[in-house]
Amino acid sequence: MNIMSKIVGMGSSVPKKRLTNFDLEKMVDTSDEWIFTRTGVKERRIADPGTTVAELAAPAAIDALKMAGVDSKELDLIICATSTPDMMFPSTACAIQALIGAAECPAFDLLAACSGFVYSLSVADQFIRSGSSKTVLLVASEIYSKMINWEDRGTCVLFGDGSAAIVLQANNNSEGVLGSEIHSDGKFGSFIKAGGMPKRHNFSSEPQVEADYFVVMKGSHTFKVAVKKMTDVSLSLLEKLTISPAEIDLIIPHQANERIMKAVAKSLNVDEGKVFNNIAGYGNTSAASIPLAMTEAYMANRINKGDLVLTVAFGGGLTWGANLIRF
Ligand code: COA
Repeated sequence: MNIMSKIVGMGSSVPKKRLTNFDLEKMVDTSDEWIFTRTGVKERRIADPGTTVAELAAPAAIDALKMAGVDSKELDLIICATSTPDMMFPSTACAIQALIGAAECPAFDLLAACSGFVYSLSVADQFIRSGSSKTVLLVASEIYSKMINWEDRGTCVLFGDGSAAIVLQANNNSEGVLGSEIHSDGKFGSFIKAGGMPKRHNFSSEPQVEADYFVVMKGSHTFKVAVKKMTDVSLSLLEKLTISPAEIDLIIPHQANERIMKAVAKSLNVDEGKVFNNIAGYGNTSAASIPLAMTEAYMANRINKGDLVLTVAFGGGLTWGANLIRF
């Protein structure tokens, strides 16, 4: 029998503090008009200093488990997609495991920057299809505000903090993840990157951090590659599954820039109305952006039973990928 991974629970959790474009006007040489017309962002959420990525994630995970009717002790795998972990180790996934009281299931982080969710869904689906796992918690949680140079107007207007989670369960009735496709190309690593790691060992006991700690980005290069790769991977996955773009009920793209989302919809020849977009309220929350948007779309009845939903993302690495899900 064909085993599939069905999404049975969703939840999200964002910090209370809102940082609006008008607030940013007071911090760097920018304007609400520039930010909104170039990106679609109006405001983003910022975690309180001291809040960990795992603490931000725990309420999202608990809500997803509640919706699924699953006790945390039943989980047999936890994956956390993050590129802003609190520590090198323990992993954020292990910290979340402790916070939600899960049992001794495997837990690990997956780092694919803004493609973290599509990568993790592909990996979780392999665990379920192979029979290794029956009930998986996939959490995506990011606190980019600690990695942003708040004097760099080219990046600080784009990103925000947030978490979201889904629960996947093995299922036999053709609902769930129909397929995934993921890619990377390390030769474009300089397009968007962040340091934040200790330097190579130099026999010093002083903590040493890379000079390029903050997120740096070649914006217009990234924009062009993002549109091309998100379009290509969507078409390639759909072709493999013999489904046409016209059959998709909703596209949930990574929320990096409204203009990128519109350009991808145009390249796929899909009506813009079929593209879910909540970037105005959150900015780019990296790996968390797709599950955050998915939870919001579901709560707003934009996803119904039987719908075909395409998720597609692009991020640092460079990484990119897509999943097709039958709800
Ligand atoms: N406010 C005002 N002006 C700004 C600005 C800001 N926040 N940021 C950049 N500018 C200026 C630039 O300095 C430049 O000025 P110049 O022409 O005098 O040199 C001008 O605006 C145009 O910059 P450019 O980078 O060409 O703008 P753009 O139209 O490409 O938009 C981005 C910039 C970053 C919004 C856009 O390139 C983008 O979204 N790229 C993709 C980024 C992304 O998605 N990254 C994450 C991938 S997961």
